[in-house]
Amino acid sequence: MRILQIASEAHPLIKTGGLADVVGTLPGALAEEGVEIRTLLPGYPAVMAAISASPQIAHVLPDLPGGPARLIEAQARGLDLLVLDAPPLFARAGGPYADLDGQDWPDNPLRFAALSAAAARIAQGALPGWLPHILHAHDWQAALVPAYLHYWNIRLPSVLTIHNLAFPGKFAPALLPDLFLPPESMGLEALEFFGAASALKGGLVFASAITTVSPSYAEEILTEAFGMGLDGVLHARRAALIGILNGIDITAWNPATDAALTARFDATTLPARAANKSALQRGFGLPESDAPLFGVVSRLSWQKGVDLLLDSLPALSESGAQLVVLGAGDRDLEDRLRQAAAADPARIACHIGYDEALAHRLQAGVDALLVPSRFEPCGLTQLCALRYGTIPVVSRVGGLADTIIDANAMAVDAGVATGVQFSPVTPDALAGAIRRCVALYHSKHWRQMQASAMRTDVSWRAPAGHYAALYRRLMAA
Ligand code: ADP
Ligand code: GLC
Repeated sequence: MRILQIASEAHPLIKTGGLADVVGTLPGALAEEGVEIRTLLPGYPAVMAAISASPQIAHVLPDLPGGPARLIEAQARGLDLLVLDAPPLFARAGGPYADLDGQDWPDNPLRFAALSAAAARIAQGALPGWLPHILHAHDWQAALVPAYLHYWNIRLPSVLTIHNLAFPGKFAPALLPDLFLPPESMGLEALEFFGAASALKGGLVFASAITTVSPSYAEEILTEAFGMGLDGVLHARRAALIGILNGIDITAWNPATDAALTARFDATTLPARAANKSALQRGFGLPESDAPLFGVVSRLSWQKGVDLLLDSLPALSESGAQLVVLGAGDRDLEDRLRQAAAADPARIACHIGYDEALAHRLQAGVDALLVPSRFEPCGLTQLCALRYGTIPVVSRVGGLADTIIDANAMAVDAGVATGVQFSPVTPDALAGAIRRCVALYHSKHWRQMQASAMRTDVSWRAPAGHYAALYRRLMAA
């Protein structure tokens, strides 16, 4: 079975969030199911640099939105890549979506329409000797793929995976001709979205199957509260929508072999974690104490509830705990975190920035990970935490609800609890969860919870089986 997946990021080549982790691990996970996945990525400078050392084959795509481009076949970092080399669109300093000041590129609709149209060209046979059976598009940046298949009469099944419904990929209808989309694509049962056009809506309407990254989020997005204006469309496509939980790369995230750690450990050598905690406290300039140490690894945004956390810091300090934060994002949240650390330097410390090795050391050194998200399609950091014997404290939404077993009295007695959940998503409920977690930390149940957390299967084994089954169903249809 040959799958072409289309995405705007893939770890370890280019990453802003969990989307890259998923796109980067899916091919390896599906290979074990006998599925061959090639990944189409934009030719950002980082991607072009990564493929420059390996053999390449280039093909010309004369006719794409934004002008002619080249399609480069190459292998890099374990991925079988197709790279869209279109310098006017992608050869820029900055991130995949924004310039160095964090401003979105104004031509993003065109850039990612070119990517999606390139996928449709591949489906039309642009690569000699390689035709995919299914196109698998991720998020709004690739969501025009099913729309192009529809309007260009290309009869291949498509999957659209929603990693985050909050980004609809909106653009002005006046752009449609530049994007090679016909006037009828502005129809209500096409891309029309509150007067604008939405790439994501196009994908939702035309994809053969829609997946999202947890069963709970698949239910939530059918409601007005979580649907971001797309709940109506999703209702109409309800029969095509399924939730498949993400996994993590359990080789890269393995506390027994992780080279970033001060001390390596497994479920039978949990006391060795203490050296990681001390090193983390030292590194963050906090007193080395036995106090429960909470951590955060996150994009700093409204979605992640970082403001709720800031509001519950008094409760955290009063309970005798410490907190270390690793994150970057909204300037306002970054400033407020720095101020909170300056105001309570014995308890709170932050590192504003993106640092992968530090993310590993943090997961291995903190006692509990805070994830107070307002919505969370899946969430990967709580899965990494489980793997490292760190107790996740999470809001009861989306993938967080699906992956953590709350330490209620019965779950604790049965020895199956892996974390603490709270609801509603408010500073008070979060403060209550922090206090509950501190009490558990001082109780005889803590070690048992850590062991249960580490026993949880967070690998790609089960999800890969679900994707493979979906692909098979689509091929048989
Ligand atoms: P999202 O994709 O919504 O940001 P996820 O939990 O799915 O959230 O994925 C986030 C990924 O990014 C995880 O792999 C996490 O470890 C990583 N990450 C987030 N912030 C940072 C940071 N500041 N430094 C290093 N890694 C980070
Ligand atoms: C998105 C979501 C996150 C999910 C990730 C990978 O960024 O915010 O919850 O884990 O995609 O699917």
